[in-house]
Amino acid sequence: MPIAVCPGSFDPVTKGHLDIIKRASVLFEEVIVLVVVNVDKRCSFSLEERCEMIRQAAAGMENVRVDHYDGLLVDYVRRVGAQAIVKGLRAMSDFEYEFQMALTNKKLLPYAETVFLTTSAENMYVSSSLVRQVAGFGGDIRDLVPGCLVKTIAKRLQRPPLADGDKR
Ligand code: PNS
Repeated sequence: MPIAVCPGSFDPVTKGHLDIIKRASVLFEEVIVLVVVNVDKRCSFSLEERCEMIRQAAAGMENVRVDHYDGLLVDYVRRVGAQAIVKGLRAMSDFEYEFQMALTNKKLLPYAETVFLTTSAENMYVSSSLVRQVAGFGGDIRDLVPGCLVKTIAKRLQRPPLADGDKR
């Protein structure tokens, strides 16, 4: 069975991500969860923080390891001898963006296949940006992120209350 790379920003890792990682770990001999620098995004957590959170959340998964990379995804895939790139698909809104990336990666590294796993119904609406927004205003993120990370993420993202007369 081949090695798969599961790339993303994971800012932070969500229950939806973890579900995809878990299901990929059943399909592949080894899954490398790769925290990649996305030049189009400004992240709230550092690369190391994001890796550490995924390590904690995926602690029981024997064939999953976590790494980070600042470069072209296909260069990493080639370097570690992986054959597949695993991505999760939530709704049609994800499709165009993911399809474009899959075709570009196929052009750059033809032997590597992008494998899409459909998200579980209960995680359809979950995204890292939603987590950042809800946690930022002190909302309940227990349904959105892995249980072991709820406190860390909430504490790290909660904004200080506004002083009287201040505007965001
Ligand atoms: O979770 P994201 O931000 O949607 O993941 C996108 C990511 C990081 C996988 C993508 O931006 C990426 O692969 N970046 C690395 C640079 C690269 O290879 N770009 C070309 C991708 S087609």
